[in-house]
Amino acid sequence: MSTRLQKYLVICGLGSRRGCEELITSGRVKVNSVKITEQGAMVGECDDVTIDGKPTISCEFQLVMMNKRNGKLTARSDPYGRATVMDDLPTIYHYLNPIGRLDVDTTGLLLFTINGELNQRITHPSHSIPKVYMATLNKPFTHTGVFEQGVNIREARRATGIVLNIQQTIVHLEVKEGRNHVVKRMFASLGYKVTALSRTKVGHIELEGLEAGECMLLEKDEVERFLKT
Ligand code: URA
Repeated sequence: MSTRLQKYLVICGLGSRRGCEELITSGRVKVNSVKITEQGAMVGECDDVTIDGKPTISCEFQLVMMNKRNGKLTARSDPYGRATVMDDLPTIYHYLNPIGRLDVDTTGLLLFTINGELNQRITHPSHSIPKVYMATLNKPFTHTGVFEQGVNIREARRATGIVLNIQQTIVHLEVKEGRNHVVKRMFASLGYKVTALSRTKVGHIELEGLEAGECMLLEKDEVERFLKT
């Protein structure tokens, strides 16, 4: 499928429509090594588009990181009209879908893509991508070593995790799966209630420098690392 060059640049997150038109007229854009200064040029997925010699990220490889806010549903839309993560996603990225799901009251790192393989790599347990959560509990955590052995969360398969750090009621836990409410259920199995939960890391991507509700397009090499895992 081909699209107009200026629209392609907007989707790649390179600026407003006007800004991207200026990139073209100022001669900074090349398609397959040929400088393009006309607005009407069409580009397809296989075209090699550069700005000042630097490759753009085609839609298929766009991976957006959001610092999800509390109270936002992880869904594209909601039949009951509740607030969703899409409210905080810039409209140019609205064609992307959330990868996996965070509970409505969970905050932190949420990724978006349209790439099915990328989605599968990040969510499917067979790829063992670790996810780190910071859980705040109703009482100090004293069960050192228990999650590493596995706990019963009332499903056939036990759930395991690695406790990375404990500061009284705050526990950083790494898990490699995405079953519904898995972290809350793991703590509940030992008699703790999670009073706040935030995801801080997915694979090699860490939630850093983003205010609640903010989003950022990840670099191409960060995306490729997931596909090589
Ligand atoms: N585990 C949970 O319990 N909730 C989340 O949102 C994610 C993981």
